[in-house]
Amino acid sequence: MREANKNIVLIDSEKCIGCGSCVRDCVGEHLYLDGGVVRAKTDSCPECGHCYAVCPNEVFSFIGYDTSETLCPIKLSDLDPEILLTGIKSRRSCRQYRNEPIPDDVVKMIVEAGRYAPTASNKQDVHFSILKEKKDEIEKTAVEFLRAKKAQGANGQTFMIRTITDSFLFKGAPLVILLSSVNPLDAGIASGYMELMANSLGLGVLYSGYFQYVFANCPELREMIELPEEESLVSCMVFGYPDVEYRRIVPRYEANVTLL
Ligand SMILES: Cc1cc2nc3c(=O)[nH]c(=O)nc-3n(C[C@H](O)[C@H](O)[C@H](O)COP(=O)(O)O)c2cc1C
Ligand code: SF4
Ligand code: SF4
Repeated sequence: MREANKNIVLIDSEKCIGCGSCVRDCVGEHLYLDGGVVRAKTDSCPECGHCYAVCPNEVFSFIGYDTSETLCPIKLSDLDPEILLTGIKSRRSCRQYRNEPIPDDVVKMIVEAGRYAPTASNKQDVHFSILKEKKDEIEKTAVEFLRAKKAQGANGQTFMIRTITDSFLFKGAPLVILLSSVNPLDAGIASGYMELMANSLGLGVLYSGYFQYVFANCPELREMIELPEEESLVSCMVFGYPDVEYRRIVPRYEANVTLL
């Protein structure tokens, strides 16, 4: 795992016109104006990049980051919010997949969506484990564990009343990505971003919670996945081209909202 927030923001003061935009938006209170020119107080900042993003000139650069791909941002508010909300409501968990591989550039876009999700203190601590050669072996081990648990009896577990087929966990989908992080919310948010990205690329997605159950209870699986001790497995995401079509949006309970 990379050590977070170790890189340094560099300032090319000569290009500064003293507008103060970066100072106002600096979460770390790291920047100040001195005689109309920006200066840094300390060399520790969360590397959020807001100064880089807001500056009208190219004053800031970051050691340790590849900035060759940073493009002009678009405004998400330019998207039609009704279409976005209907798209979110139309998302369904997918459990039927076509036997069709996912191109590498599509996988890359999905991971990019996760990479750009926010993380607490900008730790960027999300770890994406893409199951490739080991996918089938991992599913086999996990399925065997689940069948043994079912045979023993596991009170209250819904898999007790399910048929545990060989593809019970990954549903025959071609791609599985495990997300882990030190702060579980970081990988949780990244998972949501990746799901929507994958949907927009025509893919179906399933969170395999049963896989997480096995992971939490089967030391052999933890060893196979080689997660660093400090990381929690937050989600197991299954991706593939759907072999099912939904004709209407499902009903849901009213939102549980408390006004205080
Ligand atoms: C954290 C999490 C774990 C889940 N685990 C499983 C699973 O192991 N197997 C499965 O078939 N569905 C799983 N699901 C899918 C849920 O059953 C599904 O989201 C729910 O029934 C609502 O359906 P929808 O996603 O189509 O709206 C999981 C969903 C979440 C969010
Ligand atoms: S990266 Fe963020 S915290 Fe660091 S100097 Fe720039 S705006 Fe401030
Ligand atoms: S935003 Fe850029 S130009 Fe404006 S004060 Fe900061 S460094 Fe100087």
